[in-house]
Amino acid sequence: MATTTARREGCLKRKRRAAGIIEGISLRSLAAERKTDSRLADYNHSVHGRQPRKPRATITLAMEIRASLSAFVNKQLSRFGYALIQTAAGRRPPYFASHQGKRYAYEPILIPDGLAPWATDDDFLAVWEKVQHNTLVDIYRCYELYQTIREIVPVPGDIVEVGVWRGGTGAALAAAAARWKPDAHVWLCDTFSGVVKASQFDSAYRGGEHADASEATVEGLLRALGLVNASILKGVFPDDTAAAIEGRRIALLHIDVDVYQSAADVVSWAAPRMAGGAVMIFDDYGFSSCKGITRLVDELRSGGEWLWFYNLNGHAILIKR
Ligand SMILES: C[S@@+](CC[C@H](N)C(=O)[O-])C[C@H]1O[C@@H](n2cnc3c(N)ncnc32)[C@H](O)[C@@H]1O
Repeated sequence: MATTTARREGCLKRKRRAAGIIEGISLRSLAAERKTDSRLADYNHSVHGRQPRKPRATITLAMEIRASLSAFVNKQLSRFGYALIQTAAGRRPPYFASHQGKRYAYEPILIPDGLAPWATDDDFLAVWEKVQHNTLVDIYRCYELYQTIREIVPVPGDIVEVGVWRGGTGAALAAAAARWKPDAHVWLCDTFSGVVKASQFDSAYRGGEHADASEATVEGLLRALGLVNASILKGVFPDDTAAAIEGRRIALLHIDVDVYQSAADVVSWAAPRMAGGAVMIFDDYGFSSCKGITRLVDELRSGGEWLWFYNLNGHAILIKR
């Protein structure tokens, strides 16, 4: 009887080990939480005969040093357009930053073998060829903006971009509208004297950045693409220029203004002018330099008026319910 019970217990232990469970501890969740502590070390030692692992504090310190070192190296490399990436399978451990009472986690997001439809879209590539030198936005987000016009064809209204700089994303939107939504006009709104309304909610911007742009540059780009469906509104939006489009509806709003209060004012003005299905795309969502934008989008999300999508590429996409 005693032998049978011992056999059963042995069998049970093997099953639990195979499932990664010992004494009520899920090894997977331990690993996930990076609690490589003495319980796991003792377990490995007893089961696999391995040497006990280093104490947890040493491992955590080593990971922190590694994270700080690679953040430092990446910062230097990013000046030249390069980055260090880990090629082995698995995620890099996140690192954390707190700002104005909120805690954010960051980690490099790598998507191996992602589908790249822009690479075979000749119409888009012809546009990209012209806009790429007039934008701070990468090809992935530009393509997403361009393609979103197709999705909002049935939604009544115009296309508004606030934060135009030298016109790259605005011209891409206008090119897509000329192709798929010819009934819509494209309004390109910028101070052309840089970012405004920076506040304590913003992590890097202080105001006045990106003043190296002009109406003439944007007009030149629109001309180069043969676009006649776009107009420029120069001044702070909505304060100085929204009156020019009072009474119009908005089907797509692209907000690329870098700071919390500027974006919040744009949304307050535009949201009542957007029908169900209308789309707001925020640039800079999740970027550590634009924590004010992340804060605002998260607030809008909790309001329940919008469907929220984080596209892992710096875009938050909100669809009016
Ligand atoms: C990052 S840039 C825009 C980049 C642009 N979308 C591109 O294709 O690279 C941000 C721009 O927002 C503008 N801006 C910020 N707040 C604004 C506001 N409330 N009204 C008008 N322009 C604003 C700044 O002047 C600046 O040119």
